[in-house]
Amino acid sequence: AVDIGKLRAETGYITYDDGFGNTGSCTSAITFIDGEQGILRYRGYPIEQLAEKSDFVETAYLVMNGELPDKAQRAKFSGLLGENAPLREGMRRFIQTFPRDSHPMAMLSASLNALGAYYPHLASNNHQRDLEHFDEAAAIAISKVRTITADIFRVSQGKPFNHPKPDLLYCENFLHLMFSDPYKDYSPTPEVAQALNLFLLLHADHEQNCSTSTVKMVASAGANLFASVSAGVNALWGPLHGGANMAVLEMLKNIHADGDDGTRFIAAAKSGKGDRLMGFGHRVYKNYDPRAKIIKASFHKALASLGIKDDPLLNIAMNLEKVALSDDYFIQRKLYPNVDFYSGLIMRAIGIPENLFTVMFAIGRMPGWIAQWREVAQNPKLKIYRPRQVYTGKTKRDYPANR
Ligand code: ACO
Repeated sequence: AVDIGKLRAETGYITYDDGFGNTGSCTSAITFIDGEQGILRYRGYPIEQLAEKSDFVETAYLVMNGELPDKAQRAKFSGLLGENAPLREGMRRFIQTFPRDSHPMAMLSASLNALGAYYPHLASNNHQRDLEHFDEAAAIAISKVRTITADIFRVSQGKPFNHPKPDLLYCENFLHLMFSDPYKDYSPTPEVAQALNLFLLLHADHEQNCSTSTVKMVASAGANLFASVSAGVNALWGPLHGGANMAVLEMLKNIHADGDDGTRFIAAAKSGKGDRLMGFGHRVYKNYDPRAKIIKASFHKALASLGIKDDPLLNIAMNLEKVALSDDYFIQRKLYPNVDFYSGLIMRAIGIPENLFTVMFAIGRMPGWIAQWREVAQNPKLKIYRPRQVYTGKTKRDYPANR
């Protein structure tokens, strides 16, 4: 076998793969994607079956642990999530100290990182020691990301925090934390809770995407779970990644305000002079993103149950899709709707404000980041991630003598 290290040292040879489009950074047993066929499976289970039969909490357990939980395992996991839902008072004060107009992703990343300070026994930066407390750390991250998100929202609205209710399920509890008021409890219809469950489940993992690779990069240096997922949040914030769900809604609103039905927008996107069609295209899927298909299929039912009959933004989205899918520019480049194309409209219908859309993606992705962090931490042959480069700067030159 070729000794790559030796070859590199002798020849200076490195592979150059712009944007890592063709580089496998690790082996992984969590998520399978076939981008050409539009297939996505978590731990071998097709996403379509999980979307139909599972819920977010069960899927989170599956993604992190490799198997569906039996009754006792599910009860234990739900118990841990319930126990860990409240935030320490100091964390709540921390969230209150941000400027009122702070971006929720900045607040989320900082808050997740701060969790490590509150639980030093889970964040020792020694993988072996941190793994001994894996179940507790995972439950804290999954449960508290929900409370942190709701607290960020409440602060931005100038409203008091709500306290998690131990008897509520994960999604119902989140919606209570978000929308209950001191004298009026919010209880969602089953359809709203189900739409949220589906949204989170569909985002639970997506193999080595930008934010997950970031989590793993940080983990590869030996960093703890909270530091690693906090870094993942920052990667997710970018508009080419998780920020796209927010960008889609902005795009739809602008098209609506321009009195366009999407046709003019598409012409501008194709010419390269306008903006990209947000929510379209994917590095891996060269086919319809299966998650977008599932959201689209359940969309009309969910909207009807939320009392939304004729949404002009939905009409524009459907027209954009229709025009793009029959246009040579998009066909030749294999650009199809991705999960973000319709997910923003679901969030909006549930009542989530736009600046929280990407935070919602982070709640959904948390189990995936945790599972991927665990794979890194458990790797007995772990090597720090350290890519090389092709240097294009100046060749050697001397510092000016009379400076
Ligand atoms: N609208 C118009 N043209 C596009 C789009 C788009 N949404 N996406 C790609 N293209 C074009 C590019 O201009 C390029 O054309 P060219 O070959 O003539 O130069 C070609 O398609 C290939 O595009 P790349 O940017 O090279 O593809 P890449 O795999 O690097 O990018 C990405 C994938 C970032 C998702 C891209 O398709 C994009 O910007 N989409 C819009 C943003 C978006 O929806 N992001 C969410 C991704 S899914 C997620 O994070 C959950």
